[in-house]
Amino acid sequence: MKKTQLILALDLETFEEARVLIDELADSVEIFKVGSQMFTAHGPFITRYLQSRGKKVFLDLKFHDIPNTVASAVKSAVGLSVSPNGDTGFAPLYMMTVHTVGGKEMLEAAVQAAQAQAKALGVTRPLIVGVTVLTSTAKEANLEALVLERARLAKAAGLDGVVASVEEAALIRRELGKDFLIVTPGIRPADASLNDQKRVATPQAAIQQGSNFLVVGRPILQAPSPRTAALKILEEMKR
Ligand code: C5P
Repeated sequence: MKKTQLILALDLETFEEARVLIDELADSVEIFKVGSQMFTAHGPFITRYLQSRGKKVFLDLKFHDIPNTVASAVKSAVGLSVSPNGDTGFAPLYMMTVHTVGGKEMLEAAVQAAQAQAKALGVTRPLIVGVTVLTSTAKEANLEALVLERARLAKAAGLDGVVASVEEAALIRRELGKDFLIVTPGIRPADASLNDQKRVATPQAAIQQGSNFLVVGRPILQAPSPRTAALKILEEMKR
């Protein structure tokens, strides 16, 4: 399996805060997650800023709607892979999320739309991962079974992987094979605050459970020095 990679969740308010952080972490973080907060405020401006710097963008908008609407939204997302001014070195959209709650037909429509639009534009198709159960949801009876059921659905529909907590990662890895991607948020280094996350784990535990991508937000964003916090996590991931 490829080495586990760090994804920084750019959950910030202003473009200026994001720009400072991206510059500060330019040599250490390769993948940046743009979620609903940033995208609602700054839209393609923020994704293009990252892409023009050759950074990989993970667009985390967790699409969940009727199949036709999700297919159209995915088509628009794939369109973000094309630079409006033909920049060389402009990175295509790397990864995006849809919500598995949307069901098989919606997930299949998402995959088909991404394939068709990537082909039409001559760009690499972004990886599509399905959100299973948010990591802010506390553990309850049958949660593992529910996450696994949604992960199976995602795989059957042709998705590349899922977003799940570290607590379900090993099960998903065992049941769905080594090539199915597992993205795990809710990562908390031993000394960090939990915030609103409930199903959390350290970076090392996440790697041991089979995660391919660790999503980290507040433990880096709210650290006195985000750069030091990021480097510390990267160091812990190497061990
Ligand atoms: O700040 P923190 O490290 O908790 O950020 C986690 C990020 O991962 C947030 O951007 C959140 O939206 C996202 N996420 C999550 N749980 C999921 C899917 C995405 O926490 N299941």
